Amino acid sequence: MPSQPSRLSASSDFSSSNARSRIEDTAKGVAQDKIVTGAKSNGGVISSADEQAGVARRLVVVTVVGSGYVGTTTAALLTALGIKTYAVDIDEAKVDKLKDGKAPFYEVGLDNLVAYGIDNNYLVPTSSYEESIPHASIVISAVGTPENADGSPDLRYVYSALESIAQNATGPLIYVQKSTVPVGTGRAIIAKYAELSDKPFSYVSAPEFLREGTAVVDSIEPDRIVVGGDDADSKHIITTIFRDISSRRAEIADIADQPIQNLPEPIAFNMSIESAELTKVTANAFLALKISFANSIAKLADSTNADVAEVMDAVGSDKRIGRAFLNAGRGYGGGCFPKDVKGLISSAKANNVAMDIMTAASNLNDSMPSYIVDRLKDELGELETKKIAILGLAFKAGTSDVRKSPGIKIANLLQQAGSKVSAYDPQAHNEALADLDEGIALLDSAQLAIKNADAIVVATEWPEFKDIDYSQTTAKLLFDAMNLLDSSMIVRNGLEYRGVGRRLKL
Ligand code: UDX
Repeated sequence: MPSQPSRLSASSDFSSSNARSRIEDTAKGVAQDKIVTGAKSNGGVISSADEQAGVARRLVVVTVVGSGYVGTTTAALLTALGIKTYAVDIDEAKVDKLKDGKAPFYEVGLDNLVAYGIDNNYLVPTSSYEESIPHASIVISAVGTPENADGSPDLRYVYSALESIAQNATGPLIYVQKSTVPVGTGRAIIAKYAELSDKPFSYVSAPEFLREGTAVVDSIEPDRIVVGGDDADSKHIITTIFRDISSRRAEIADIADQPIQNLPEPIAFNMSIESAELTKVTANAFLALKISFANSIAKLADSTNADVAEVMDAVGSDKRIGRAFLNAGRGYGGGCFPKDVKGLISSAKANNVAMDIMTAASNLNDSMPSYIVDRLKDELGELETKKIAILGLAFKAGTSDVRKSPGIKIANLLQQAGSKVSAYDPQAHNEALADLDEGIALLDSAQLAIKNADAIVVATEWPEFKDIDYSQTTAKLLFDAMNLLDSSMIVRNGLEYRGVGRRLKL
């Protein structure tokens, strides 16, 4: 063990240089310096495994690149473990918000974790790679991978971040990919880094499965930890860090002020880079498939007097199928499902593999907002001049995110059809402004939005929409595009109720 290692020693080949022992040697070496100092000053000795792990944790420095949902949550959780973490983002507004101890977006519990990281000097937000990369032994990539016009992911931010990382790396790095990238990207990044830098580089694909709105609780109690890579030691280090988050969930939940469910410890899956890359998009594609399948059955239910929720309750009770993600409605939106489904189709195409099943799911999903609008037209006779209130603009409840939001699509389609649209969302007004067509009015409360309407459309599953006083409206029809409400409650308030593939319950 080196007596005074200042940082990981460089060597030409990461796997042969044994990353784990070098990181651990570094940690223990510096820990021993501390032990000696401590012994001199107060006679204390850091001897237990827990204490040594604590010291090692304080000596690992991580840089998380990208301060979106995944990056900010990851960085905040690492700081809750006591790991010094730089959060680097080129967007100064996000950096300033983080420096103020707040997440750059609304996500329940995250502000508390960010504030903890800032107050304890564990979290260092910055826009500078020069400041953040030279100290790090682990760099986590969590930059955006938006959709290209042809449906493939745009990897420009992944590669520009990689260049900045390579320019500023002063020694070996474990590079952890949390951005969703197509299968094959990891190999391309390894080759690119070798062109950019002569420093050892170990690539680990560690896909993220957190959902927006429940990012913190999902991350502290995940179902699984997936790590793909060529170097066993690097995978071990990354698995250990993410396991640590779960084993210390009570402490972290306390800081976040969030409940825990005491779920079983996550299962860790150790695999190749390609398998890990494909695991991420496959999980999202399968969930999207379930939703589109439920919506196909809902359309048939609409034509046959069946009730899709009754069908799915019974079908989903089969353990092989499961009830989750079989809720019919206006279709899926958000930053992940639409993009990941199209990304999988594009990966398949690039490899000459047919993926018609996902093309069908994606097309069905794209058609759901107009299906809702067509059904409204059937009910109202015509849409022109009708006053329609849209409740819900976020792509789902618990978030202010409006990316690919079906609620916004429905609002715009109605506006284009000549309706007078008023809209309300508990969180997403600022975010929705840029995507809403001109003329759509944003109201300060749900009650105001529905007051003078002819029809109401529920387009996001916000639980508070169940508590609105639906007797205080001129509307004669409520179209529940999320199948959220109790139909008998709506009928009791004097409105007609329509859902997606749903029958009235009286
Ligand atoms: C998803 C995955 O769930 C998560 O694991 C991954 O890491 C990122 O993508 P997210 O996009 O945050 O998470 O939202 P999710 O809760 O999965 O919902 C996606 C969309 O599907 C929402 O628009 C939601 O309203 C819709 N949905 C969900 C349905 O229409 N029906 C359902 O049964 C479930």
